[in-house]
Amino acid sequence: MKCVDDYRLRLGSHELVPIVVGGMGVDISTSALALEIARLGGIGHISDAMVHTVTDRRYRTHYVKDRLKKYKFNVDNLHDKSAAQFDLGLLAEATHLHVGKTMEAKRGPGLVFVNCMEKLTMNNPRETLRVRLCTAMDAGIDGITLAAGLHLGSFALIQDHPRFRDVKLGIIVSSLRALQLFLKKNARSGRLPDYIVVEGPLAGGHLGFAADWAKYDLVTILAEIRDWLRAEHLDIPLIPAGGIFTGGNAAGFLEQGAAAVQVATRFTVTRECGLPDEVKQAYFRATEDQIEVNNISPTGYPMRMLKSCPAVGSAVRPNCEAFGYLLDGSGHCQYAEAWERERSGLAEGQKVKVWDKTCLCTHMRNFDCWTCGHYTWRLKETSLQDADGNYHLLSAEHVFHDYQYSTGGKIELPVAG
Ligand SMILES: Cc1cc2nc3c(=O)[nH]c(=O)nc-3n(C[C@H](O)[C@H](O)[C@H](O)COP(=O)(O)O)c2cc1C
Repeated sequence: MKCVDDYRLRLGSHELVPIVVGGMGVDISTSALALEIARLGGIGHISDAMVHTVTDRRYRTHYVKDRLKKYKFNVDNLHDKSAAQFDLGLLAEATHLHVGKTMEAKRGPGLVFVNCMEKLTMNNPRETLRVRLCTAMDAGIDGITLAAGLHLGSFALIQDHPRFRDVKLGIIVSSLRALQLFLKKNARSGRLPDYIVVEGPLAGGHLGFAADWAKYDLVTILAEIRDWLRAEHLDIPLIPAGGIFTGGNAAGFLEQGAAAVQVATRFTVTRECGLPDEVKQAYFRATEDQIEVNNISPTGYPMRMLKSCPAVGSAVRPNCEAFGYLLDGSGHCQYAEAWERERSGLAEGQKVKVWDKTCLCTHMRNFDCWTCGHYTWRLKETSLQDADGNYHLLSAEHVFHDYQYSTGGKIELPVAG
């Protein structure tokens, strides 16, 4: 029986173990996790989501505090946050710090990519995205995975960058239609993506599906995209993602012609993952009925999460002056609007509660939005449990090697002690 290690992913001159650990913002897929995956010969992702708060935590900068100080005058204005613009110079500085420090520390044969979500519109979608992409390349990133959005104009934004043709560029799609649109709109740049991540409905984070996500399946979408690419004589590596839980499962996709697999959920309970330990334990303990796909993300995309997490039904005051990553181009965020709607119906002193949206910036910043993959409820099968009920955290190396070498439905447990 074949295992993942029988295959290799070729990207330009690189020959890699065909395991990609997907980006998990905000700082869930840490630099430490991405670097460990690169050391082991695969592709690890950092994420540039909420980069200012990530660098504040890691490198003792104070971007968020300074931003709040600058825009404090606008905190009570819930209708219009257009004043709270991001300083593009500071965005470049923070991105350079985050990406540059990671790349300086990189060792081994693998690669480190950055996950760049278009839905992080940052009150100025076009210019902030341009700065994020260009600065990641300036800071030496090996590749950029374009995520959470159609990215119809993203290549045009960066086509004059000196690294545009050498950096690896990939796109995440959940349908053939999204891929066709992406290729059509980016054709003028004269460059194809180096890889395509095909993300099915069982993935974690935001989903590229509507409320009827359960009607779709990864195998069918992947086959549809593969057949179309063949018919168009386009040879672009395909990387399926979403619900690939075991090495045997991954090897099955490679056998069917996938170039690599992208996985994430299994790595959320590793020591290198940025989630606090108590959240990792909540992931281990989760049962299937505690995992839901809901519409509380102000991005408008459905999102999978543990429904017991503090982000559901919370009513934290909108923090757009400090964060503001989901402000559209004209100073609006669906959460700020929902909060104002609820507040306006209350008498003085009554506590606001918002159920239909969440303040994603604040909750992701505090690791209170427990977004997760569909198979999070199976994580308990991957570790050992102590008498006190806690599970052993795993090393990223252990999980990576389990994907790389195990066959069938087998999962290698960690050594006790
Ligand atoms: C906790 C968590 C956070 C995620 N955050 C992001 C993200 O910020 N951007 C993104 O493109 N995908 C995100 N994803 C999706 C993963 O990168 C990956 O494609 C997918 O989850 C793979 O499926 P699996 O988790 O079943 O292995 C996230 C997944 C998880 C589990």
